[in-house]
Amino acid sequence: MTEKTIRIAAIGLGNRTCKYLRFVKKNPSMATLTAIADSDRQRLLAVQERFGLEDNACFTSPDEFFSTVKDVDICIIGTPDKYHYDMTVRALANGWNVLLEKPMAQEADECRKIAELSQQTGLMVSVCYVLRYHPYFVKMKELTTRPDLGRILSVRHVERVGIDRTTHTYVRGPWTYKEMHTSMFFSKCCHDVDFVLWLTGNDVRTVSSFKEGRPFDPSLAPKGAANRCICCSKEGNCRYSAVDLYLRRRDWIKGFIPYPDEEERDTILRMLSESRFGRCVYNCTDTDAVDRQTVVLEMESRIRSEIVMECITEEDNRLTEIQCENAVISGDETTITVRFKDGREDESYDFSWTKGLGYHANADFHIIEDLITAVASGRKELRTSAADAVVSHIVCLKADNHPA
Ligand SMILES: NC(=O)c1ccc[n+]([C@@H]2O[C@H](COP(=O)([O-])OP(=O)(O)OC[C@H]3O[C@@H](n4cnc5c(N)ncnc54)[C@H](O)[C@@H]3O)[C@@H](O)[C@H]2O)c1
Repeated sequence: MTEKTIRIAAIGLGNRTCKYLRFVKKNPSMATLTAIADSDRQRLLAVQERFGLEDNACFTSPDEFFSTVKDVDICIIGTPDKYHYDMTVRALANGWNVLLEKPMAQEADECRKIAELSQQTGLMVSVCYVLRYHPYFVKMKELTTRPDLGRILSVRHVERVGIDRTTHTYVRGPWTYKEMHTSMFFSKCCHDVDFVLWLTGNDVRTVSSFKEGRPFDPSLAPKGAANRCICCSKEGNCRYSAVDLYLRRRDWIKGFIPYPDEEERDTILRMLSESRFGRCVYNCTDTDAVDRQTVVLEMESRIRSEIVMECITEEDNRLTEIQCENAVISGDETTITVRFKDGREDESYDFSWTKGLGYHANADFHIIEDLITAVASGRKELRTSAADAVVSHIVCLKADNHPA
C-alpha cells in the first residue's frame, strides 16, 4: 500500500517508457503522470492524448522540461543511451528520484558519478535491470542461496539474441547509430552480466572477452542480391528478409508510426523503401554486431563465470547452468532443474506460465511499482540501485576494451 499518489514525469516516450506508463495508467491511486517530453512530436502527442495532459505539461525540448517542470517525485528516463547521464544528473539536481533505463551511462566515470549523486542527495535511482524482478530469475537467485546446494563454483550463462532481434535492432536498426548507443554486448548483455553478478557477488577480479565474426558481410550476400529486400529477387528464400519480418509477419513494427491517415501496410512499405529498416542485412556495414561474444569473469571468491552472447539463433532466450558444490541448477527460462550430486531426486520448477505474459513476465511493472512504493513509504532499499549497477557496467566496458 502506498501512502500518497506519486507524481511521475517521463522523458523519451518510446517502447520502454510506454511500458512503465501502462502501469501508471492502470494504478491511478498509486501514481499520476504530470509531465512528459519527447523530441518526436508525434510520440509526445500520442502520450498526451492517452493521459489527457494539458499542453503546458508536454515538451519537445529536454531543456524546457528540466527547467520548467516542478513537483515531481519520480522521473522516468527512457531516451537513447547517449542522453542517460546528462538527464539523470539534471533530474537529481531537480530533486527527483529516477527510473533510469539501462545502460545507466556510457562511461565508467559517469556510472560512478550517478551512484555517488544518488548517495549524496538521498534520491533513488533505479536502473532498469528488470530480470531482478522476473519470477524465473528470482527463483534462480533464491535457489543459489539454499544451504543444501552448497556454494557456487561456476556459472555459464548464454544469451541467445535471436535472428529477428539481431537484424532489427543491431544490424539494420537503432543500435547502429553509434553516437547514440553503446556496443551490442553492453546494450544486450549488461542485464546478463548483472544477473550473474547478482548470483555470485560483485567481487570481479578479471574480465576477458572474445569476439567471433560478423553475422553479415557484403562478401556473404547471395549472388545478385539487391540493396533493399523489397526489390530483391532472392528475398523469398532469405531468412533475414525485411519484407518477411515487417510486412508478412508484422513483427517488430511498433516503432513505425504511421503518418496521419496512412494505413499500416503503407507505412511498412514506405519504411521498406526508404528507411534503414528496408536494407539488405549483408549491406549493413555500419553495424558492430558480432556472431558471438564470450566474456569470462574470474571472481575474488574463485567463482568463474562465462557469459555468452549468440546472435544468429532461432530461439530468443537465455540458458543458465550453475555448478554448486552439491547440485547443478540449470534453466532455459521455461523450466529450472536442480540435479543433486548425492543422488537425491531432481527438483523441477515450471515457468512456462511466464511465456505469454509479456512485459518481461510483468517485471516491467514490478520494477516501477517497487520504486513508487519505496518513494511513497520512505523505504530506501531497491533491488536495482545505481550503486549496485555500476559493476556490471564496468564489466561491459572492459569487455569492449573501453577505459573503465
Ligand atoms: N530494460 C530493458 O529491458 C530494455 C530493453 C530495451 C531497451 N532498453 C533501453 O531503453 C532505452 C530506450 O529504448 P527504447 O527501445 O524505448 O527506444 P525508443 O526509440 O522506442 O524510444 C526512445 C524515445 O526517446 C526519444 N528521444 C530521443 N532523443 C531524445 C531527446 N534528446 N529528448 C527527448 N526524447 C528523445 C525518441 O523520440 C523516442 O521516443 C534505451 O536506452 C535502451 O537501451 C532497455
